[in-house]
Amino acid sequence: MLGQFITFEGGEGAGKSSVLQAVARQLEKNGYQVVTTREPGGIEIAEKIRNIILDRAHTTMDARTEALLYAAARRQHLIERVVPALKDGKIVLCDRFIDSSLAYQGYARGLGIEEVYQINQFAINDTMPDLTLFFDILPEEGLKRINMNHQREKNRLDLEKLSFHQNVYDAYKILLDRFNDRMVAVDASPKFEDVVEQSLTLILRHINVYNSTSK
Ligand code: TYD
Repeated sequence: MLGQFITFEGGEGAGKSSVLQAVARQLEKNGYQVVTTREPGGIEIAEKIRNIILDRAHTTMDARTEALLYAAARRQHLIERVVPALKDGKIVLCDRFIDSSLAYQGYARGLGIEEVYQINQFAINDTMPDLTLFFDILPEEGLKRINMNHQREKNRLDLEKLSFHQNVYDAYKILLDRFNDRMVAVDASPKFEDVVEQSLTLILRHINVYNSTSK
């Protein structure tokens, strides 16, 4: 049996990374084999590309260079980490994937969702997520959360203006509509335990539907 590829998406401060870890623990308690990972990064080559992309000193990075580097990191991570786990029948929970590129590079940086989709097609070769959870929080709320969390180091994208993050948010709403067969919104504004609960319910429902139709 092939595993399930589930991605977590959203703007800054949506809490998706902590929710992902909590959901993984719950799924393991339910007897599922789970792999957690993140983009950009997750494996050595992609982590190195991540350091180049997110380096605060790289203020001259061109938007297309940035998009290509994300796509390159994505390719390597997919081949080395995601595909083997899916072949082993595992549930892969990935913090960000192609939708981040479509929202950040395609829409917020203005390269065009379609153009960025095309260069990503070269990288992923039709391996799209089975399910994508979008953690829905207004950008000003998300940024407030980040600023309260002093331990979190701010990267080059965290330093963008509120209008950039507003565009990212608008982009995700467009993607929710376009990819409504695999993408669902999770209200990220309530307390942590409730967001974990909502996410877990959506994932278990998805897996059960998948299992009952693939028998
Ligand atoms: P990270 O510290 O992992 O942020 P977060 O906790 O919000 O996921 O930094 C990843 C940054 O890279 C984040 O600002 C979103 C951005 N990004 C893109 O712009 N395009 C992409 O394709 C990906 C995967 C991430």
